Amino acid sequence: MKIFRKDPSLKKQLLKTTSWFILMLTFILFYCMLAGNGLIFSIVFLGLLILSYFLHERLWFAVKPGYLSKFELAKKIKKDIQPNLFKQAAKVTRQQRGELNQHQSFTLWFTGLSSSGKSTLAAELEARLFAAGYRTYILDGDNTRLGINSDLSFSREDRAENIRRVAEMCKLLNEAGLIVIASFISPFEDDRLRAANIIEKENFIEVYIDSSLDVCKSRDPKGLYKLAELGKIKDFTGIDSPYEPPLTPDIHLPTDRSSPDECVNLVIDYLLYNKRIQGIDVFTNDFQKLKG
Ligand code: ADX
Repeated sequence: MKIFRKDPSLKKQLLKTTSWFILMLTFILFYCMLAGNGLIFSIVFLGLLILSYFLHERLWFAVKPGYLSKFELAKKIKKDIQPNLFKQAAKVTRQQRGELNQHQSFTLWFTGLSSSGKSTLAAELEARLFAAGYRTYILDGDNTRLGINSDLSFSREDRAENIRRVAEMCKLLNEAGLIVIASFISPFEDDRLRAANIIEKENFIEVYIDSSLDVCKSRDPKGLYKLAELGKIKDFTGIDSPYEPPLTPDIHLPTDRSSPDECVNLVIDYLLYNKRIQGIDVFTNDFQKLKG
């Protein structure tokens, strides 16, 4: 029926109500048959009623609602459909695109708390690279969540899916020859590792935008920390959802101690030092100092 297709959990709710109704009828019948047995009997009877309600709830909790979770559904689709898909090859290769652009393509993955400075640094860095002739693109959490990822929440499962989709986009944009700056809280080590595997490790440069929670809270340009502390936003990173700092980031930017310019210089130094880019005349050697 149409109504069940629209809301598959309705079937489970109807069955559950019916089974509780039958159980209640049995209880009432039983009580009527044994009525007149005094107070003790009534108290025991009430206890049994409460216990049976609890057991009934637990039993139905174990029954699947009749639909698959997002994760189960994705797994099933993958299993059913993937054997029928065949990767198509283009005539123009990534290398040829790189030769045309005269630079390599890779992803700079910015991870850090909300208000740690990811978006500011991404914009500054992109402007510097773009001005020097590099083809770049920024992918940002707020923007992608307003568009392609607008169906995702901040639950653990949805954050993983957010990062997976973004990583796939980074991979495509890298294949198209662009340098991507991906700016996402990406609080979980597992998800970042999965992103690195999708993008491929040699094209994935992890940049830890490190600012203490106190500093982020004091900046709070969008007022989100305040709302999260008042309980008006749920699952907010740093408040009631964890942030796992990267253990071995390729670049570590302490944004609560360095200016945006200094941080951007560090990234450019890293890229020059590792021969990912060439020819930008702002080689400050800060990165080498930091390494030494
Ligand atoms: S991630 O955790 O899945 O990587 P993402 O980077 O896409 O997060 O989005 C973070 C942005 O969403 C933040 O900059 C913030 O403005 C906004 N936001 C809204 N709700 C939350 C929340 N519960 N936790 C974190 N950020 C949130």
